[in-house]
Amino acid sequence: MDRMPPPRRTRLTLSPSLDAKLGETRLRTILIASGKGGVGKSTVSVNLATALAARGHSVALVDADIYGASVPRMLNAFEKPLTFGSRLVPVERHGVKLMSLGLFFAEDAPLVVRGPIMHNTVRQLLEEVAWGEPDYLIVDLPPGTGDVAISVAETVPGSAMIVVTTPQLVALKVAIRAAKMASVGELRPIGVVENMSHFITPQGESIEIFGSGGGDELAEALGVPLLGRVPLEAAVRQAGDEGNPVAVSAPESPAGRVFLAIAAQVERIEPPPRRLRRAGVGG
Ligand SMILES: Nc1ncnc2c1ncn2[C@@H]1O[C@H](COP(=O)(O)OP(=O)(O)OP(=O)(O)O)[C@@H](O)[C@H]1O
Ligand SMILES: [Mg+2]
Repeated sequence: MDRMPPPRRTRLTLSPSLDAKLGETRLRTILIASGKGGVGKSTVSVNLATALAARGHSVALVDADIYGASVPRMLNAFEKPLTFGSRLVPVERHGVKLMSLGLFFAEDAPLVVRGPIMHNTVRQLLEEVAWGEPDYLIVDLPPGTGDVAISVAETVPGSAMIVVTTPQLVALKVAIRAAKMASVGELRPIGVVENMSHFITPQGESIEIFGSGGGDELAEALGVPLLGRVPLEAAVRQAGDEGNPVAVSAPESPAGRVFLAIAAQVERIEPPPRRLRRAGVGG
């Protein structure tokens, strides 16, 4: 069984505005994580962000999957961000302010971000952006517990974390990885989303294509609620490809309703008590 690494101590130099915001309780930072690739993190990130914006919140979304940015396509955002002073100006879609490395490169461009500058790239995407005054900062992580995910956790310690899984994944394995991530950044798991949960036939019958139980088991293992079961729907994939997330383009669809219900639950979850480690102030 994997052993959990000891929490790493980092020295943070957050930009003054984000630092100040992170010190307040109003900004809630939520990392969207998974134990495995392709389970729907980006889909959940984009739909949660747009659902929260549709519910009246100011929302920032960071695509931290720097080697496989998929959020720009999911929001049909391809224009290069402008700069304002030393800050990047986020691109806005459906009331969500987005920053992604994918906005700077063609989709098929091979991206080489070597280790030493990777952490700085992640930090810039989070901090050196003119976010304004967001209520929520949603961060779409790359899969697993690699260096990029750990860099994010270290840059915004004390964040909440939602773990996305499919029904058939072995909950214990996912839970161990989630716990690993959480230990690095003192993250607080707040819920699980089971994606590709079931398929509803045109006749209204629900079929569990990928089995069942993964979401419940993972939620239990992490001691957090299961926030929702998102059905497998062609419309979800299509809306993602077209840059028009179902949470806003089809809020009455089965998946759209689930995403909005997840957003409503997220609103009710108290923000974690933040213990911000400032530069030079350990622990
Ligand atoms: N509920 C769903 N119904 C139908 N298609 C879905 C659903 N959720 C995700 N998809 C599709 O599955 C694919 C993978 O989803 P997504 O990119 O969100 O996963 P991911 O976990 O972010 O992947 P990666 O680990 O590569 O970042 C996408 O094409 C997406 O449109
Ligand atoms: Mg993704």
